[in-house]
Amino acid sequence: MSLPGLREALRAAGYTVDGVTDLLGQPAHRALSRNETGPGLRATGGGSPLETLTRLWPLQATVSEDHAQRALPGLVGSLCAAGVLDRSGDQVTARVDVRPYAEEDRDWWVVSDLAPGLDGTHEPVSPDHVLGVSSASTSLAQLTVREPVGRALDLGTGCGVQALHLGRHSAQVVATDVNRRALRMAEMTAALDDVDVEVRRGSLFEPVAEEKFDLVVSNPPFVVSPATGRLLAYRDSGLPGDEVVRRLVQRAPRHLRAGGWCQLLANWVHLSAQPWQDRVAGWLVGSGCDAWVVQREVLDPAEYVELWLRDAGLHGSPRYADRYHTWLSWFEEQQVSGVGFGWVSLRRHQDGGHRDPVVRVEDWPYEIEQPLWAEVAGWSRRVDFDSSVGNTELLASRLVVRSDVRQETVGAPGAEDPELIVLRQSHGMRRAREVDTVTAGLVGACDGDLRVGQVLDALARLLDREAGELRGGYLAVVRDLVADGFLEPA
Ligand SMILES: C[S@@+](CC[C@H](N)C(=O)[O-])C[C@H]1O[C@@H](n2cnc3c(N)ncnc32)[C@H](O)[C@@H]1O
Repeated sequence: MSLPGLREALRAAGYTVDGVTDLLGQPAHRALSRNETGPGLRATGGGSPLETLTRLWPLQATVSEDHAQRALPGLVGSLCAAGVLDRSGDQVTARVDVRPYAEEDRDWWVVSDLAPGLDGTHEPVSPDHVLGVSSASTSLAQLTVREPVGRALDLGTGCGVQALHLGRHSAQVVATDVNRRALRMAEMTAALDDVDVEVRRGSLFEPVAEEKFDLVVSNPPFVVSPATGRLLAYRDSGLPGDEVVRRLVQRAPRHLRAGGWCQLLANWVHLSAQPWQDRVAGWLVGSGCDAWVVQREVLDPAEYVELWLRDAGLHGSPRYADRYHTWLSWFEEQQVSGVGFGWVSLRRHQDGGHRDPVVRVEDWPYEIEQPLWAEVAGWSRRVDFDSSVGNTELLASRLVVRSDVRQETVGAPGAEDPELIVLRQSHGMRRAREVDTVTAGLVGACDGDLRVGQVLDALARLLDREAGELRGGYLAVVRDLVADGFLEPA
């Protein structure tokens, strides 16, 4: 099968994210995102190549051989032979998905298994099902630090979506998976998109033995379960609880070059006996990496079990009640009170790990603005800065307020002083904090010209306070503002 030929046909038909969205129109597009194909089928009855491809793949409808030949000139036979399409009489259907995917300035196509569950069907998927691009995939893609690197690893590549992104800023991309079908699809995705990716089969870091990377990304099979019964490769690691995440977090550092990043999506359990923060931070002891762990969401055990039983297409099936009770009983035995979902970003020290690692573990269920990767890179630079300056150097340093920080004041109409001052970031983590007059004045004066000590002395004069008191009392506040990204080294 000629993948460059297929690419040309897809491009010629305008089978891109924008092309399909425009063709369907918003209501049909939204219906499809709810797994409903009715409106989409009504919008694609004309037989043009774009309509045919949209029916074939996103809508999983049967098309006539005539239309298929027109949309995919000279390719239908080889796509059938390769198991991508199926021909029966003069009808053609898809056997695997070829779906448009895009970054702002780039159109791609991703090969995966067909999306299950269209129009209310509840077919359980096979254990080696290869998932297409999900909202989890795109959140990891937007979290990943996109700076030019040498070697990058996509661990658990599935349909190969992370590898595509890595190919844009990495000299070499290695993609691994335990699922042979996933590796075949990742290879097809890469070839279709003309991206160099080396695929290797094996579990976790086994396929890369002692190799080191500048960037490791993984959207791993992190579902927390007893790991018994029928397992789905795309979500079940075969390890009980959150063991797969612990192993990844603990093994990643030895595969990172100095300055290298590892970024993961993860679940971790909340145990009644130990705060989740201590548990996750415990995995990082001795890692030689700075770490930023953000918990975005927590589900209670019942919510969690329901979510993943539905995902497996089991809701409404005869096995549902039994699976539900088994899973919930296991959570009870393990004293699991909830399951957290979030992100882990590790960065190996530039200097080979001479200073103590900085580990930040936080709960942040609030709205954020993706892509977040510049914020992650900024966090690391700020950690380096904060760890490298003592108090005297901090007073002598020049800081700037981040350009998206806004000040909000609340008070009675006409009042001289506000009752409340809030500093709020408009982008990234969108943090907000209530501050006092000194802190607001300090942040406002940080334009990179004056040193921190000079700003504090000027504020002391202005507010009729002791200069020594402000220098002594506000250095911790300055460090906090730097840690949270309100202030940055000039
Ligand atoms: C949630 S999917 C992620 C796919 C893709 N990287 C993405 O971001 O959408 C997890 C992938 O990990 C693979 N996987 C499962 N167990 C694994 C293991 N022990 N080692 C490596 N990969 C594994 C699965 O086959 C699946 O392709």
